Order: sequence, then structure tokens, then C-alpha cells
Amino acid sequence: MQNNTSSLSGKVALITGAAQRMGAVIAEALHAEGLNLALHYRTSKQAAHALQEKLNAARADSVVLIQADLLDSAKVTHMVHDAIGAWGRLDVLINNASSFYPTPVGSVSDTQWDDIMGSNLRAPFFAAQAAARALGESSGCIINIVDIHADRPLKTYPVYSTAKAGLVMLTKALACELAPQVRVNAVAPGAILWPEALDQVTQQRIISRTLLKHQGQPGDIARAVLFLIRDAGYITGQVITVDGGRSINA
Ligand SMILES: NC(=O)c1ccc[n+]([C@@H]2O[C@H](COP(=O)([O-])OP(=O)(O)OC[C@H]3O[C@@H](n4cnc5c(N)ncnc54)[C@H](OP(=O)(O)O)[C@@H]3O)[C@@H](O)[C@H]2O)c1
Repeated sequence: MQNNTSSLSGKVALITGAAQRMGAVIAEALHAEGLNLALHYRTSKQAAHALQEKLNAARADSVVLIQADLLDSAKVTHMVHDAIGAWGRLDVLINNASSFYPTPVGSVSDTQWDDIMGSNLRAPFFAAQAAARALGESSGCIINIVDIHADRPLKTYPVYSTAKAGLVMLTKALACELAPQVRVNAVAPGAILWPEALDQVTQQRIISRTLLKHQGQPGDIARAVLFLIRDAGYITGQVITVDGGRSINA
């Protein structure tokens, strides 16, 4: 029988980029705590439907899907309104969707700049703007998924690093703007899921520089997210780094 004792039971979260990888693991963790979910995807339709089916089988009518390209801010606003419309409330917004690829200086196009800035920074702002009233009514929270490379730029990824640095500032700025009703925090992952193209030598080099000497798991990020939602009522405007100590290693 479903355990309904969680303090999160019946609350509603909207998670962007939730069809697969980290977003999907965060979705499963929140769902297991009793939250109802609006899961956003862009192109990963099949994975999104499979996840919805799995979670709705565990708890009927607990997950809706919303498709949108977040580069269009009107669609971002619609996504948020659809999520609120589905459940009549919104308690948590998780800005997880991101485009990530190298942009060596000398090669960067306007389209690449707009794509990386749009998904990692612009969309989170417009999503927060559209969600602010509903989150205020529920004393809810926003969690932005940033990156340790918001502080220390990742070589050949200047646009991505800059976008995530902007998202860290947006986290702090929105914490100021939306207080006292809405808390706004961020989680900064280190090496959790490798990008598809990353070779073994680079993977080993990254792990050797990580104090805990192993790669993290998406569940490590999901638990930090859950902490910020459930147990962090006096925390706002902060970034929790979940990187096995990589970012403090000299
Ligand atoms: N993986 C890591 O170890 C790591 C490390 C540091 C930080 N992070 C951060 O953690 C988060 C999750 O990481 P991840 O590796 O799981 O992410 P990911 O697989 O690279 O991307 C997540 C989703 O973002 C969506 N997306 C990208 N551009 C979009 C757009 N214009 N409109 C709508 N959706 C868009 C895609 O949805 P569709 O597939 O549906 O198109 C994609 O599945 C990201 O914010 C990332 O920057 C990850």
C-alpha cells in the first residue's frame, strides 16, 4: 500500500528536461516521496512516455507530460501554466534542462550562443517568472541545477560555463526577489553522468582529481534536491555542491 505519511505527499513539482538521465532520476525520487509531477521534455518523447507510464503504474494519475522547446519563452510560460492547470497548484520548480557542448572561441555562432544561454539561463528565468505567483501561494521553492564549472570555467566550454555562472546569480537574485514566500536554491553537480563523447582517459583524470575518488550518482543529486525541498526551510539563495570534493582539490 502507498505510504502517505510523507510531508511532500500531494505537492506538485515541475521538472524540466525530465525524460532521461539526471532529470528522470530526480523525478523518480520526488515521486517516491508522494509528489505529483509535471515532467517536461523536448525531443525525448518515448523516454518521457515510458517514465510517465512507470510512475502512473505505481500511483495512478500522478504524472503529466509537457512538451516544449524552452528556447521560446512563450512556450516556457505555457509549460508552467499547463503544469499549474494540471494540478491546480505548484510547489516546486526544478530547472534541470540544459544544452551542453564545446564552444571553442573562434568557432561560436549566434545560434549556439542562443541555444546554450537559452536553455541554461533564459528559460529558468522565464519559468520562475511564470511560476512565482503559484509558488508564492504554496510557500514553494525553485531549485536550479547548475554546475561546479559556474565557478571554474570548463576548458573549451566558455558559453556553457558563463550560462551556469549566470544561473548561480539568478538563483541568488530570485531568492531576493521572491522572498519571503519562495525559497530559491541551486545544486551544483560534479562528475555524475559522463557526456556521451567523453573518452576514458579524461574520465579517469577527472576521478583522480576528485577527493572521494569515484564518480557520483544521479541519486546523489536527487537527495540534495529532496533536502532542499523538504528539510531546508531556512535556506535560500544557496548553492549545494555535490562533487565528491572535486572543486576544492588544488
Ligand atoms: N551530467 C553531469 O554529470 C552533470 C554535471 C554538472 C552539471 N550537470 C547539470 O545537471 C543537469 C542534468 O544533467 P544531464 O547530464 O542529465 O542533462 P542532459 O542529459 O545533457 O540534458 C537534459 C535535458 O535537457 C533538455 N534540453 C536541452 N535543451 C533544451 C531546450 N532548448 N528545450 C527544452 N529542453 C532542452 C533535453 O531534453 P530532450 O532530451 O527531451 O530534448 C535533455 O534531455 C543539467 O542542468 C546539467 O547542466 C550535469
